Amino acid sequence: MTAVQAPTGPIRRPPTWWQRSGLDVRDGRLSIAGQDAEQLAREHGTPLFVYDLERVAENARRVVGALGRAGLHHRVRFALKANHQPEVLAVFRGLGAPGTPSAIGIDACSPGEVQLALAGGWAPEEISFTATNLSDRDLDILLTSGVHLNLDAISQVERVGRRAPGLRIGLRVNPGAGAGYHEGLAYSGTRPTKFGIYADRLDEAVDAARRHDLTIDRVHFHAGSGWLADGLPSFEAALSAAARMVGLLVERGCPIDEVNVGGGLGAPARQDERPIDLDAYAAVLARHLGPRGVAVGVEPGDYLVKDAAILLGEIVTIEDRGGTRFVGLDLGWNVDCSYFIYRFAQEVVLCRDPEAERTQLVTVAGHINEAGDIFAEDYPFPEVREGDIVALLNAGGYKQSMSSTHCLRPMAEALFLERRP
Ligand SMILES: Cc1ncc(COP(=O)(O)O)c(C=O)c1O
Repeated sequence: MTAVQAPTGPIRRPPTWWQRSGLDVRDGRLSIAGQDAEQLAREHGTPLFVYDLERVAENARRVVGALGRAGLHHRVRFALKANHQPEVLAVFRGLGAPGTPSAIGIDACSPGEVQLALAGGWAPEEISFTATNLSDRDLDILLTSGVHLNLDAISQVERVGRRAPGLRIGLRVNPGAGAGYHEGLAYSGTRPTKFGIYADRLDEAVDAARRHDLTIDRVHFHAGSGWLADGLPSFEAALSAAARMVGLLVERGCPIDEVNVGGGLGAPARQDERPIDLDAYAAVLARHLGPRGVAVGVEPGDYLVKDAAILLGEIVTIEDRGGTRFVGLDLGWNVDCSYFIYRFAQEVVLCRDPEAERTQLVTVAGHINEAGDIFAEDYPFPEVREGDIVALLNAGGYKQSMSSTHCLRPMAEALFLERRP
């Protein structure tokens, strides 16, 4: 074992909030899907994503279950941008036959994602499309795909109308209120954002649709991403504003049959972050949308996959600089941009002893030549040594789908595990 060093920070109890079936401590070591995490890293190399595929299914069933208990006519769609891996998509596809309540559809945001979903076995009617700043080239491809489009600008309504008069469309609205992990992840609010049609221009959008004989049958909004239990009131405020806009559209004769409330449900990243109570979420949806008799679309990305994978890396450098201890890993923000871009907190777990006392404060950094390439700062950490394997938790959403070869660092390999007892 490592020699005990003098603590450089307060001694903290090891965070164990993340333990669950499929991600736990066995014989004092981190185990994922029943397999020893460090051993997987030694065998396959690092950096390495390791997925517990059963967790993907569990997350989806939990969402579907809560919406069903609230009596909602629901359509759950996975926001594909969060994870493009065929093994993950196969789990969603396998959860229910098209049209059944347990089926998981797809939310796509680019022509490429539509093509991936179609290739993955989704029928066009199971795919909902919502995207911003679409080119005419995008529209030409999308309009041959047969998927339902939620248009997020009057310009899109005009251009779709000119190309495909008579089409049924959705409108992405901007409720002027938002919710997010932090302010920067709220997609609407007092500060104008690039998304959707605001209430003050709703009539113009309806007029444009009418001119082209387009029927507006869906309303979509996305309040923001990563919000947790304490974000529910903000989400409800956004929902309430969107519901008012639905009312205005109905008054103008639009046969709205689905309100899509977007995604944005977060997953806790640290001990002090409270998970969303899905039944409370579903109750809020039922309160505002139930009386309208519409189908309720939800399109979570991160929530369905985030905690279904870990990212394994090796500690390659431990060095004190200017009074800060830097723990350097053999991976960078090119494979894990969660803190770099989104500022999600990051839990890092020592695989050989996940429950080791956290005796020092460190900065965990990557191997990209940029100062911002860090994963955690002032972070309570156990005594570690170069060569140790650590797991970055919550690695299933956005990390792999947003990976790049920046600095010509390769993207990480991935293992997709069926859970062992
Ligand atoms: C329109 C829309 N729907 C769904 C999502 C998925 O968000 P999340 O992964 O936070 O659930 C996003 C994320 O940007 C989005 O823009």
